[in-house]
Amino acid sequence: MLLEKMLQSQGFGSRKYCQQLIKNGAVQIHGEIIDNLKYKADLHALEFSVYGKSYTYREKVYIALNKPKGYECSHQATHHFSVFELFDDALMNRGLQCVGRLDQDTTGLLLLTDDGQFLQALTHPKKHVAKVYQMHTADPVTAEQVAQLEQGVALRNETGIFAATDVQCLEERRLQMTVHQGVYHQVKRMLAAVGNKVDQLHRAQIGQLNLAHLKNLPEGEWCYLNDQDIELAKVREN
Ligand code: URA
Repeated sequence: MLLEKMLQSQGFGSRKYCQQLIKNGAVQIHGEIIDNLKYKADLHALEFSVYGKSYTYREKVYIALNKPKGYECSHQATHHFSVFELFDDALMNRGLQCVGRLDQDTTGLLLLTDDGQFLQALTHPKKHVAKVYQMHTADPVTAEQVAQLEQGVALRNETGIFAATDVQCLEERRLQMTVHQGVYHQVKRMLAAVGNKVDQLHRAQIGQLNLAHLKNLPEGEWCYLNDQDIELAKVREN
């Protein structure tokens, strides 16, 4: 692929701007400055640098963020930071999107991608990708509340019943459960529906992918997913 096209595909800017980068001698491949506009890059396992910063060529990007509190999943965040502020311009120029949303005060596993098919595979209501949440509750969780969550609750302005599976009391006020849809404030509303309240919410797993697979990615940090991680995230329920 023509070098300027490769740079463009990786989010470095317009064709003209990428040509300028090449002409300025800002681009190196395997340690060698490439200032020839006719250079064709072999994309296989391509490593390159722009102004000394190293990059790997990626046809699509798949990212896991351990989301900290105080960050919104929208591009135009109003009252908090935006999660997109955590990524550099080249990634943003690729049209990175959140795969589903977490509330600003929720922490944990958030995936981002520029692959529309992957986004669809994980968020389409019919795909049934399970998500595991852990939470601290305002009141002790009762056996009756666990049973209600498992049987399913109705949520205002939503059709159908919302049931959790694998509901486990980790401590008196700490609960883990798996949900199978992704409606607005789902977990907080489910807990409210059974008469309790979520004080702190954390997403631990999407499909079969959890933060432990990602070397316990620290809060506020992100990493690229490898092929195996991507498959784990897509695992559906039977
Ligand atoms: N359910 C919620 O209530 N909030 C989240 O951030 C995710 C799921």
